Amino acid sequence: MRVAIIGCGAIGSVLVEAICRESIKAGLVALMDIYSEKCENLAKSFCRESLNIAICRDLECLLNVKPQLVVEAASQQAVKEYVSRVLSHGISVVVLSVGALLDEDILKAVKGASRAGKARVYIPSGAIACLDAVKALANAGINRVVLRTYKNIRAFDSETLRKLGFGEVRERIKIFEGRGDVAAKLFPANVNVVATLALAAGQIPWVEVYADPKLEKNIHEIVVEGKASTISIRVENVPHPRNPRTSYLAALSAVQLLKELVEEESITVGT
Ligand SMILES: NC(=O)c1ccc[n+]([C@@H]2O[C@H](COP(=O)([O-])OP(=O)(O)OC[C@H]3O[C@@H](n4cnc5c(N)ncnc54)[C@H](O)[C@@H]3O)[C@@H](O)[C@H]2O)c1
Repeated sequence: MRVAIIGCGAIGSVLVEAICRESIKAGLVALMDIYSEKCENLAKSFCRESLNIAICRDLECLLNVKPQLVVEAASQQAVKEYVSRVLSHGISVVVLSVGALLDEDILKAVKGASRAGKARVYIPSGAIACLDAVKALANAGINRVVLRTYKNIRAFDSETLRKLGFGEVRERIKIFEGRGDVAAKLFPANVNVVATLALAAGQIPWVEVYADPKLEKNIHEIVVEGKASTISIRVENVPHPRNPRTSYLAALSAVQLLKELVEEESITVGT
């Protein structure tokens, strides 16, 4: 399968390495970033046949090399600018900056382009787990979705903390409780987890956010209560070495999704 990647940062680099070292059996045909030198460096570092990879600054360049799958690993702005256009060319897209889909207008445009282009949008589990069970449970009805996030105080914008009245934090403290869409606006670092969970469960989660000066991992606890089950999920994520805002697991979940999309395995595990 011919794959193109938008975004040559932490997640993009894990994907380029996995494709060029052949752990994902795909052909890398284009890389695109605002900073094209980031793509050039990645291609040179990991890919033997780097000259065959188009280095693009705009979408026309990327579409010209006729990818069969495009991975967005860039930003919410990139989702807004490119995803519908790619889909309308009949090319499926893997979306990492899923927080963009909390915006109803963007979600509507993406769904419309997907239908019109007969192309699909794939959203990896990212930094969380057990979305297969959450989706299954939604078929019998979900009563409540709660997400509790625990991060080091450094993970939060100091101005936001000050505005919320948390100038000095010496021990674990709850800094927010409320609707997920409000949390996503206040704490953009949480936006992808909130959006992915909302799309899987079919409802906006209730969110609690905790700041902890001693914590070195990003922890997400999720409880989903439905007719058929109560699901409790706890993920302790190590930050990605190249981008501490991104959990390493998020990049690995994109690698796994690509493997499943490009390799014709006869057994699929998980719904
Ligand atoms: N789904 C999840 O659970 C999850 C987890 C972590 C990160 N993410 C999201 O995935 C995306 C990538 O994460 P990352 O850690 O690799 O980020 P990163 O900052 O390390 O890399 C992003 C790259 O994309 C480029 N870029 C940004 N906007 C662009 C645009 N409009 N056009 C072209 N290039 C653009 C940047 O220059 C940068 O090189 C981010 O939006 C992040 O929020 C999602």
